[in-house]
Amino acid sequence: MLKIEIFSTMISIKHYAAIWFLVIVAVPSMAQNSGRIAIVPQPSQVTEHSGVFRITKVTRIKSDPAFSEVATLFAKQADIKAIGLKPETNGPSLINFVHAGKEIVADSAGYRLVITPEKITIMALTHTGALNGMESLLQLILLQPKTGEVPCAEITDHPRFGYRGVMLDVSRNFFPVPTIKRFLDLMALYKLNKFHWHLTDGPGWRLEIKKYPELTSETAWRTHKTWKEWWDSPRHYLDEGNPNAYGGYYTQEQAREIVAYAAQRGITVIPEIEMPGHSDEVLAVYPNLACSGKPFVNGELCLGNDSTFIFLKNVLTEVMAIFPSEYIHVGGDEADQSAWKKCPKCQKRMRDEQLKNESELQSYGVRRIEQFLSSKGRKLLGWDEILEGGLAPAATVMSWRGEEGGITAAKMGHEVIMTPGNYCYFDHYQADPATQPLAIGGYLTTENVYSYEPVPAELEGSKAKFIMGAQANIWTEFIPTIEHLDYMTYPRLLAMAEVTWSKKEDRNFESFRTRLQSHYRLLQRLNVNYCRPAYSLEIGTKFDYDAKKVKVSFKSEQFNPEIYYTLDGSEPTTSSQSYNGGFEATGPAKICAAIFENGKMKGKPTRLDIDFHLAIGKKVVYNQPYSKGYPAQKEATLVNGYRGSLTYGDGQWQGFDTNDMDVTIDLENPLALKTLAVSFIQQTGPGVFMPDFVEISLSDDGKDFRKVKTVNNDIPLTQSALTFKEFKFDLAGEKGRYIRVIAKNGQHGFLFADEVIIY
Ligand code: ACM
Repeated sequence: MLKIEIFSTMISIKHYAAIWFLVIVAVPSMAQNSGRIAIVPQPSQVTEHSGVFRITKVTRIKSDPAFSEVATLFAKQADIKAIGLKPETNGPSLINFVHAGKEIVADSAGYRLVITPEKITIMALTHTGALNGMESLLQLILLQPKTGEVPCAEITDHPRFGYRGVMLDVSRNFFPVPTIKRFLDLMALYKLNKFHWHLTDGPGWRLEIKKYPELTSETAWRTHKTWKEWWDSPRHYLDEGNPNAYGGYYTQEQAREIVAYAAQRGITVIPEIEMPGHSDEVLAVYPNLACSGKPFVNGELCLGNDSTFIFLKNVLTEVMAIFPSEYIHVGGDEADQSAWKKCPKCQKRMRDEQLKNESELQSYGVRRIEQFLSSKGRKLLGWDEILEGGLAPAATVMSWRGEEGGITAAKMGHEVIMTPGNYCYFDHYQADPATQPLAIGGYLTTENVYSYEPVPAELEGSKAKFIMGAQANIWTEFIPTIEHLDYMTYPRLLAMAEVTWSKKEDRNFESFRTRLQSHYRLLQRLNVNYCRPAYSLEIGTKFDYDAKKVKVSFKSEQFNPEIYYTLDGSEPTTSSQSYNGGFEATGPAKICAAIFENGKMKGKPTRLDIDFHLAIGKKVVYNQPYSKGYPAQKEATLVNGYRGSLTYGDGQWQGFDTNDMDVTIDLENPLALKTLAVSFIQQTGPGVFMPDFVEISLSDDGKDFRKVKTVNNDIPLTQSALTFKEFKFDLAGEKGRYIRVIAKNGQHGFLFADEVIIY
């Protein structure tokens, strides 16, 4: 039996021989890293030594009184995580938690971990530091191919940011207490320390409020199991106890249990109570708080009605009694202002308070709540919409619509948490959407998450200190099960852990990728249903336009894969050209490449046609602007020879937001033309549509254009699934220097184009 010694207490750990056996079976045979010191997030300093510390049945755990809770947790974690401790007979060995001085550990959240063959010592200044050291040790144990062995090393470590967060939306999909605890265990293992709990939203209120029992007896339960089915229905609720009701909520006792469980693991739980938007469920049971006075009409609370503020303060009073977190999140995102515009009470409020517009009305509401929270010693946290109409004096901003909100707030001296959609939204696809379960849209690979730098260049220097850290957001519209939650969270959360913990100069994707290989084993041991590395290839190209040459490279989530390719478009076999890290293609080429294992092709081959068409590298004038949110490669995008991939978020698809795409390409000389082709995307969920038509005009002087051809769209606007269409023009016999391409944005949504290919 493994013994743990804390003061005089002895705790014993069970020995899970059966699970030890399963673990061995689960270890895959493919390319793997040895995993010796593959800690994620990368520690500040690691010195590896030869030799190992063996955990045996006589290993003792000892602790200074300050860290007895941490030592107990370590023992329990070892048990829960069922590290198959191999019984051995050699002599006593010790794992020791030591309360160290500042000369050994300088940072309060830092630690020093020293592993020798005889002893493991975890040194820290504080409980948090000891926990962080403990989690590193736990990882080291779980990462080793040989269970029960810990490689000798000296590690000194502390975090870059104090805020290392994850938001989980439990409104669109409810997750029970044991799932939340498991989620917290995994967060702690990767040293993430803020759990932002999105507890309320239209699809269900999830926290017991004693003063307003209807919030949970009625609107914690909905008519349909999945968010999608419910969203497509009249969006009603059912009483608790109704046999057909779906949902759930946390009692206050359960929420307190979660808070304590998280605190034990160094995690602060930040509750979010949404206001004034995303409040359909509140208004279903308290319609007097809606501008219309009726249920199922509005989603926004009426801000002209004092009862709204009485309700919110009562709710927040109970919330603050459960959650000791300094930050209290009040939502603030995506409020529709149309009801306020027509509501006599809201309009009276605006006159009385001299508010110029509805944004100022929302800001007025946030300020009232902020004063209330401040009076109780708490800090208001909200999505970046709280900047509109004026930011409340001490509010902290969570920047989600890009980084702009965060930059503005930091410049004003407000604390900021960065969580921009393009890097932090884990509800986005993480691989080719055609191979994935339905997601909300977007495209965010583990590598994209890893590439995120929370301090924008604009803020380097004195304002950087206002960036408290960053956060991954897991919205659960399309995450109906616990397995799916794992799938969307891992391995991307490991990348976010390193983004927020490790020093900027220590972050290196190749190093992370190498360490990640052993974390797959760790995640398997913990039965985490992580998203497996894709077998697809990404083809990278670098054009030399003058020499008509292109450097080609392949990238994959597989570790050191065997790749074969052809340049004539035929499917590769193991007799085709083998890839050794980059090659040059001259002239047009049809690249077709695939990964092989044991002589067999894995997944589908990836194709890319390289074009040296007439418009490459030429000047493009935008008669109407491209979207600021989707600039892709700006003025170069449509003529750089790069085709977009399967997602409009890849930096090759350029967006046109509500206006037409209207560009003029200057070929520099009047040229005889053969064809022109331009592709668009349709994905109706996020509002991306085909143009009504594409029209081509030609000119020799750039002033007088003559219309030559129009191609109409034939994809129905009702076709919601991701669709691509090439609008192709036969220009045989035509000649011109300036080519104007207009794509009509009839839906006033988004158009996306990647390249105007002219021959
Ligand atoms: C958000 O994603 N609506 C904050």
